[in-house]
Amino acid sequence: MADRLAVVTGASTGLGYQLARLAAQDGHDLIICADEDEIHTAADKLRSLGAQVEATVVDLSSKAGVDTFWAAVDGRPVDLFCANAGRALGQAFADQDWPDVKRLIDLNILQTTTVLHRIGRQMHARGQGRILVTGSIVGYVPGPYDAVYDATKAYLNSLCYALQDEWEGSPVTLTCLMPGPTETPIFHREGNDLEDAPIAEQDKDDPVKVAERGYAAAMEGQRGVVPGLHNRAITALTGLVPETILARIHRMAAEPQ
Ligand SMILES: NC(=O)c1ccc[n+]([C@@H]2O[C@H](COP(=O)([O-])OP(=O)(O)OC[C@H]3O[C@@H](n4cnc5c(N)ncnc54)[C@H](OP(=O)(O)O)[C@@H]3O)[C@@H](O)[C@H]2O)c1
Repeated sequence: MADRLAVVTGASTGLGYQLARLAAQDGHDLIICADEDEIHTAADKLRSLGAQVEATVVDLSSKAGVDTFWAAVDGRPVDLFCANAGRALGQAFADQDWPDVKRLIDLNILQTTTVLHRIGRQMHARGQGRILVTGSIVGYVPGPYDAVYDATKAYLNSLCYALQDEWEGSPVTLTCLMPGPTETPIFHREGNDLEDAPIAEQDKDDPVKVAERGYAAAMEGQRGVVPGLHNRAITALTGLVPETILARIHRMAAEPQ
C-alpha cells in the first residue's frame, strides 16, 4: 500500500486514464470513477503498475452519483485530486435537447465545483494537497456548435485562477490544465454531434503528452498549463482577436457537415 492517495474522476479513458497512470507510476494508490463499466478495465491495468485501485461506476452529473463517489473517498486524506470528468455535446444550441444540456452543466460545472469544494476544504484542514482541474483552451473562445461546453470550460478556467489567488501562500496548490484538441474518445461519444464536425477528423495532440505536461505542472504547483506551442499561440491570440472572429473560427471546426 502506498503512503499517498490520488483521486481521479473520469479515469476510464483519455486524459483521465493517463493522469491516473502517471499518479500510479509516481507511487499513489488510486480512487477512480467513471460513468460506465470500462472503469474496471482501466482499474485492472492500473493495478498492474503496482497501485491499489478502488474503482466506482457513478454518474457524476447526478447528486446521487456525486454523493456515492464522495462516500467512496470516505474521509481519507487525498494527496492529489484530478478533477477531470467532462463531456462535450456538439450541435447548435437550439437543436440540443435540454436534458442533455443540463447534464453537461451538471457534470462539467456543478459536480466539479462540488467535489473541488469538498476536497479543497479537506486539503486546507490538513495543510497539504495538490489539485489538477482539466479546463480547456476553448474556455477562452466563444464556441458556436458546442457553445455550452466552451462556456463550462470558461467557468472552470476562471474558477481555477480565482481560487489560486485566494489560496496564495497556502500549501494546497491548484493547477488548471488547458489542453487544445486532444485525441481522445470525447469527439466520438454517443449523442455527441462533434463526430460530424471537421474537428473530429483534424490532427490532435497526444493524450499521453498532454497528461504528462499537466501532471508535471501539478507536481510543480504551477497555476496554469497549456500543453503545446501551437495551443499557447492560440491562447495568446485570444487576447487580441475580437470575440466575433474567434467565434467564427470555432464554428469552422465544430459545425456538423
Ligand atoms: N480531448 C480534448 O480535446 C480535450 C481538450 C480540452 C479539455 N478536455 C477535457 O478533458 C477531460 C477528459 O476528457 P477526454 O478528452 O479525456 O475524453 P474522454 O476520453 O471521453 O474522457 C471522459 C471521462 O469522463 C467520464 N465521464 C463522462 N461523463 C461522466 C459522468 N456523467 N459521470 C462520471 N464520469 C463521466 C468518462 O467515463 P465514461 O466513459 O464511463 O462515461 C471518461 O472517463 C474533460 O473534462 C474534457 O472536457 C478534453
